Amino acid sequence: MEKEINVVVLDDEENIRESVKRLFFRESFAVTSTGDSQEAIGIIEKHPIKVILSDQRMPQITGVEFLKQVREKFPDVVRILITGHADIQAAEDAINYGGVYRFINKPWNSEELKATVKQAIEHHDLVVQNRELFEATKAKNEELEVLNRRLKGMYETQKEFTSTVSHELRTPLASIKSTVDLVLSGAPGPLTEDQSKFLQKTKNNVDRLNRLINDILDLTKLESGKTELQISFHNLAQLIAEDVDNHAEAAAAKGLTLTTNISDNLPAIPMAVDKIHQVLNNLLSNAIKFTEQGGVMVVCTNNVERNYVEVRVADTGPGISVEDKDKLFQKFQQLGEPHQHTGGTGLGLAICKEIVDRHGGKIWVESQVGEGSCFCFLLPIEERRKG
Ligand SMILES: Nc1ncnc2c1ncn2[C@@H]1O[C@H](COP(=O)(O)OP(=O)(O)OP(=O)(O)O)[C@@H](O)[C@H]1O
Ligand SMILES: [Mg+2]
Repeated sequence: MEKEINVVVLDDEENIRESVKRLFFRESFAVTSTGDSQEAIGIIEKHPIKVILSDQRMPQITGVEFLKQVREKFPDVVRILITGHADIQAAEDAINYGGVYRFINKPWNSEELKATVKQAIEHHDLVVQNRELFEATKAKNEELEVLNRRLKGMYETQKEFTSTVSHELRTPLASIKSTVDLVLSGAPGPLTEDQSKFLQKTKNNVDRLNRLINDILDLTKLESGKTELQISFHNLAQLIAEDVDNHAEAAAAKGLTLTTNISDNLPAIPMAVDKIHQVLNNLLSNAIKFTEQGGVMVVCTNNVERNYVEVRVADTGPGISVEDKDKLFQKFQQLGEPHQHTGGTGLGLAICKEIVDRHGGKIWVESQVGEGSCFCFLLPIEERRKG
């Protein structure tokens, strides 16, 4: 196979040209030479030239000037200047200011010259490879950006769609509900026991669908930033007392204790009251829903130093495994068997997380399987809400 010509030597003295060429005849690449600078340019145009060696003193042009032309026309070709003793200054300048890779002094040491040319070839390959890599990365980046934009667009469309569909479902559902309520009330006429049971079941399903639609709407609005938080200053002690009160009956019905331990130095903190009620209600209803024995306790403490108030809703329920802990705060995540009887939708904790995040707080769960769970959240004492 014919070797690729990778190196050109430009020198007006034929014996020099020949002696350089001879040095490389065993290599995997070929070296060609000429005494004419225009011809050298022609060779670079025609062959995959990586390195050019040029003599400094030639009748038509100096090596430095010639290499300057090469640099402009073929910036990738690595340039080496061959100089006599008197030209050392020109050579140093060429290296410092002219983009010349190295200079070789006449008379040269063959091994050194060989090594320099090989290094120059490696240098050339590295520069080209680097540029190709850079270009490829740039292209990939651009591709990724386009994909990202498209995904974002799709996500927005999906959110719009969810929100519109849920809205559209609300009206017919409200009408079904009022009709069922009316028939159940017995006003249009008495019902048999079976009819009544059947309608009650329908009513429960309608209620459930209603809750689901409201939750989906809630979450999409929170996620898209459409929900404006109506922030004002409130004391968490008051909210907790109200919500615990609302759940007292449900806890008692299951024979569970429901207690609180609220710090008496709680400051009023900035919050969207209805939203924080929503968080507390979901945590309380979960704790009661998933606990069969023992009870639920709500603790609220003030950490002035770290600038937040902490709420902990602890239960003596089944507990949550380490793998499940993070999943819980994602949409539609319900664990194991028990939820199948609870009628929930698995959106409650995702909504809690959105709400707490939007307040600039943090929510998490501490739990040990078989020993109960403790759902905790922090709210900043100073306003730090997002969106
Ligand atoms: N206190 C708890 N103890 C044990 N598991 C819990 C507890 N709270 C939540 N979980 C688990 O986390 C899942 C998700 O809770 P989340 O509140 O998001 O949904 P849900 O209560 O099932 O339904 P929804 O709140 O939408 O009515 C629950 O289904 C349950 O498996
Ligand atoms: Mg829930």
